[in-house]
Amino acid sequence: MKTYKVNEFIMRYSIGNPFATEVVVNKGEEINRKDIDYFQIDEKKGFRFSHKMDPRDIVWGLGENQRGMNKRGGIYISYCTDDSQHTPDKKSLYGAHNFLIVDGEVKFGVFVDYPSKVTFDIGFTHSDVLDIVIDGEDFDLYIVEGVSLKEITGQFLNMIGEGYAPPKWAFGYQQSRWSYKNAEEIEKIVDSFLHYDIPCDTVYLDIDYMERFKDFTIDEESFPHIEGFVKRIKNKGFRLIPIIDAGVKIEKDYDIYEEGIANDHFCVNEEGKPFVAAVWPGRVHFPDFLRPETRKWFGLKYSRLIDWGIEGFWNDMNEPAIFYSNKGLQKAVEKAKASENENLDIYSYFELRDTFVGLLNKLEDHKDFYHRVEGKLVRHDLLHNLYGYNMTRAAAEGFEEIQPNKRFLLFSRASYVGGHRYGGIWTGDNHSWWQHLLLNIKMMVSLNMCGFLYSGADTGGFSGDVNAQLMIRWMQFSLFTPLFRNHSAMGTRRQEPFAFDEGTLHILRNTIRIRYALIPYIYSEYMKALIHKNVYIASLAFEYDDTRSRTVEDQLLIGDSLMIAPIYEENAVGRYIWLPEDMLLWKAEDYRNRSYEIYKKGNIYLEVDIQEIPIFVRKNKIVLLGKHGSSVENLCHDELEAIAFVDDKAAYVYYDDDGTTKNYKNKKYNEVFIEIEKVKNDFEITITNRGNDTLKKINFEILDIQGNVNKKTVEVS
Ligand code: GLC
Repeated sequence: MKTYKVNEFIMRYSIGNPFATEVVVNKGEEINRKDIDYFQIDEKKGFRFSHKMDPRDIVWGLGENQRGMNKRGGIYISYCTDDSQHTPDKKSLYGAHNFLIVDGEVKFGVFVDYPSKVTFDIGFTHSDVLDIVIDGEDFDLYIVEGVSLKEITGQFLNMIGEGYAPPKWAFGYQQSRWSYKNAEEIEKIVDSFLHYDIPCDTVYLDIDYMERFKDFTIDEESFPHIEGFVKRIKNKGFRLIPIIDAGVKIEKDYDIYEEGIANDHFCVNEEGKPFVAAVWPGRVHFPDFLRPETRKWFGLKYSRLIDWGIEGFWNDMNEPAIFYSNKGLQKAVEKAKASENENLDIYSYFELRDTFVGLLNKLEDHKDFYHRVEGKLVRHDLLHNLYGYNMTRAAAEGFEEIQPNKRFLLFSRASYVGGHRYGGIWTGDNHSWWQHLLLNIKMMVSLNMCGFLYSGADTGGFSGDVNAQLMIRWMQFSLFTPLFRNHSAMGTRRQEPFAFDEGTLHILRNTIRIRYALIPYIYSEYMKALIHKNVYIASLAFEYDDTRSRTVEDQLLIGDSLMIAPIYEENAVGRYIWLPEDMLLWKAEDYRNRSYEIYKKGNIYLEVDIQEIPIFVRKNKIVLLGKHGSSVENLCHDELEAIAFVDDKAAYVYYDDDGTTKNYKNKKYNEVFIEIEKVKNDFEITITNRGNDTLKKINFEILDIQGNVNKKTVEVS
């Protein structure tokens, strides 16, 4: 083992000969040490690191994963998995995010940079022991120190590099569904949004836009004259976002396939021949995204769709998902044939059935193919978690070449820590279950801690049929997540806002409009978090240190000024809420008619009707809002409203930029500094404008601790 000091707060322990995942840029300086802080190593049982936990320690993190914000009590396996049944007993989802924080009297973060299976047993086997088991001998383990959960997270985010900024329009509401079959259907969806006056920025193209599920093709029968179509939809104010899958269909004369073969771009089997697996198009090869040449080749293919006028993509099936391999299918068919004339009893029938069901995403198949890394063959399962990450990287690097300064929308299903530099993620195939709304709420915290600020779930649920109530409650939550997309599976109940009764439509419209009204705040908070290496969504423990705040699992901080308490139970008419300090409640419904109440620190039970969203403004904080528009680009921000809850002094920095370029990286953004100070019975407002040419005035509604409202308008020059 070699030990390196990365900086004052971070140590790297390098074991064996770690694979260059390229997640952490600064590797640090070697120092002479042989022990690992906070952990005992048991080398006899593979690499097992154990840490004894105090009863009150909270364990945060692990990104896309099951169970609570506090991960104690569970086993989690980092191994990117395409499993659509996200039940609480599942140990792996689509992402592998090996960062956690032990938060108690003693606090530290740990990141395991290892691209294959890592098991985190967090008090499952022994309730007071955190065990990390690494299935390999070559890895880096980082210990991150700091005085608080917030500081350790900040150190970690700093270490893994600046995250991805989508274009500003990607903060609008997005409509998707697997089954939009042709241009007419898409146009009908677009027209319905316009007809019902519901803001929306994008409509998604799922696999049916392609010619027989072949990447970078178009089904010309269903989508004739695609360029003209993309333009027509854009003229109506919407962008189309196509899906790109990892597998490339094996088909003679299909140029992507032919080029891939000619230039050795595909993963190979033991004999060095392209590995064959089956996904949507039938048999495919997998591009070897770990090779820079292959990333470049695949990444530049996006230009074909970009030339049609496309400005955003979602990368899918990149764990990679495998429906079956040739070998697996052959074995299963042989077994079926052999059973043909058998009298199958319950056990042998189940065995036969499971042989077919078990073809999906088999570990054995992962051991049957290889990547070529610097001239050497490396078995896929040993690098598995880097596959989706490198597909996203391929796209991002492609965009960088195609249009270097343009921000594209990009998010992925599979991911590894570090993928946040290239794109966002969505949380895959959830269900229209209340439990998955709650899971979505909890997961946003750990996703943010791992750098995935641009993330969100399939709002309303992907599988299963959603009812109006769940749709409303989910929308009322998702309006705070940067990726705000309603997506559902083929064959399920339609869940566009206008697919419901009139009352529901009315509520959903108002809910989506709140998102658009809050864009000045949401975008500002997102971009500041990105630039300053903070989280955008946090648990209360990031800001409040009392026991109750540290253990609340169903309330969130959104940016610096807001706390939300979403409703996530069916037929609920209210809920208990913990207020860690005095707060201002805005029960949002129609954002244009606002009323407020002040609540004292403590536990409350709040009645919440179906159309209401409890939004709390923290003490001495300010939130900005504008008016809604049909899309983000149609928003007018020359006049903003500020809701402030001020005891003595409050300050806010309103960030904005062009929303389309990467110029913000060169500090080309504008900031409006707002300060409110209570002076006797009045409030003094100071505004300093650094470069915002749009904003002309702010209408303030300032509430003091007694709930007195003070309204003022201030011109901005
Ligand atoms: C996968 C994706 C889902 C998509 C479907 C069809 O299940 O997770 O979002 O709709 O494939 O492409």
